[in-house]
Amino acid sequence: MTTEPRTVADSALTLTLFAQPEHSNSLGTVHGGVVLKLCDECAGIIAARHSRRPCVTVTVDSVTFHRPVPLGHLIFAHGRITYVGTTSMEVAVRVEVENLLTGKVTHTNDAYFVYVALDENRRPTPVPPLALTSDEERRAFEEGRARQAARLARARAVP
Ligand SMILES: CC(C)(COP(=O)(O)OP(=O)(O)OC[C@H]1O[C@@H](n2cnc3c(N)ncnc32)[C@H](O)[C@@H]1OP(=O)(O)O)[C@@H](O)C(=O)NCCC(=O)NCCS
Repeated sequence: MTTEPRTVADSALTLTLFAQPEHSNSLGTVHGGVVLKLCDECAGIIAARHSRRPCVTVTVDSVTFHRPVPLGHLIFAHGRITYVGTTSMEVAVRVEVENLLTGKVTHTNDAYFVYVALDENRRPTPVPPLALTSDEERRAFEEGRARQAARLARARAVP
């Protein structure tokens, strides 16, 4: 296992999907599950890139659909790691869509995913620290730490 600190840029990734009729819901816009799958794939790859381990999703929160995604648009999932604990990693994904005919880019979704890195026995294993390189990354890390504490408090509150 690598223990060298890794930067946000080391694992950051954008995945792209061309929204086609097979991605539609009954209203003729992109099904929310399609957008979530794209986000989960993007964020899962980022977690695996940061840890160089197989990773599983432990929780997803703050998924917000700001506006519908029309078919025929290009969907971008821009992901970056925001916070790491001991074995867990939080990844923020921002979704934007591009109208191919006008070039206009619109922000449609935000989501936070938390992954846990697994060892050979499929048990949680430590991940490399996050090397923070800017005030924005340091702020995002502290916000991620607070979100993770709130998630764990919510999980503890469930009987
Ligand atoms: C993820 C999993 C391995 C964690 O197992 P566990 O016994 O709870 O492990 P731990 O208690 O050691 O917790 C591991 C990490 O997850 C975090 N975690 C556990 N429950 C959490 C929750 N509800 N929300 C956020 N983080 C959580 C812990 O804080 C810990 O992070 P840290 O090491 O950075 O402090 C286990 O819950 C699991 O296998 N879940 C199913 C995953 C899955 O199938 N996902 C869908 C397909 S990818």
